[in-house]
Amino acid sequence: MRFCVLPKEFNILGHMKYTFGTDEAAARRLERIAQFFNPPAVEFISKGVDGPVGSAIDLGCGPGYTTGMLSGAIDCPDVYGLDTSPGFLKMAADRFPHCTFVEHDVTKAPFPVRAELMYVRFLLSHLRDVVDLVNFWTTQLEPGGRLLVDELEGIETEVPVFEEYLSVNEALVASQGASLYVGGNLAEGSYDSEVLCNECVEIPVPNGTVATWFLSNTLTIWKEDPFVLERVAPDRRREISDEIRRIKETGDPRMANSWKMRRLVLQKA
Ligand SMILES: C[S@@+](CC[C@H](N)C(=O)[O-])C[C@H]1O[C@@H](n2cnc3c(N)ncnc32)[C@H](O)[C@@H]1O
Repeated sequence: MRFCVLPKEFNILGHMKYTFGTDEAAARRLERIAQFFNPPAVEFISKGVDGPVGSAIDLGCGPGYTTGMLSGAIDCPDVYGLDTSPGFLKMAADRFPHCTFVEHDVTKAPFPVRAELMYVRFLLSHLRDVVDLVNFWTTQLEPGGRLLVDELEGIETEVPVFEEYLSVNEALVASQGASLYVGGNLAEGSYDSEVLCNECVEIPVPNGTVATWFLSNTLTIWKEDPFVLERVAPDRRREISDEIRRIKETGDPRMANSWKMRRLVLQKA
């Protein structure tokens, strides 16, 4: 393992609170999301990486489902997951003992290890100044290394209760200075590295699957977060949650939703 030494500490932002919690329920929600999004992510990673990699980092790894997926998708002996949540990191280390998990705020340098590859998914929606951050991350790569970005650009849905749920979450994330649909900013960013790929892919998702992801937050953070408590009346919160639960229980297979993912592959000179 190699450690990098940079002359000065870099800190774009200071650490922001992660909106959707870091407890067991949040980990289960991320596991369900990973079960759906990991197969298309493996395809993206396989296309974005050409050959064996000495070391790789999963930025904002959460309970490790992206790190385990990354490790399986590439030929690499040392795969690291970085996150600020000690609880998530412990769960990740228990689940994926062949990877190394390190507590680190990814808005700060130096990173604990220099990697040839970095992957990030569903993190930039929770951070500010995302294009600067992407440029900063490439400074932490080995020369010739690649950064693969797999982030949310938009969600289209024909289900009114999902639309309402999403509008609350979009406003909640915005109240913390971030942007849930961060992909548009990333698409238009100006990058210091060579841009090998900048594309948007659409992934259709069945109603029943969406409901399993959305129900969890209505039962946890929606009952605690002051922003949600102030803006959505208790009766309406219950109605939204109950309606999402009904869709989950019926396992509605209709594909009335589309996740738009912005994908970038950047190569450091
Ligand atoms: C939505 S989760 C995504 C987890 C994983 N990438 C996935 O797709 O399943 C976002 C993760 O980023 C972490 N996070 C938020 N801000 C961070 C920061 N500044 N540095 C490192 N991790 C951070 C949170 O603790 C959380 O685990």
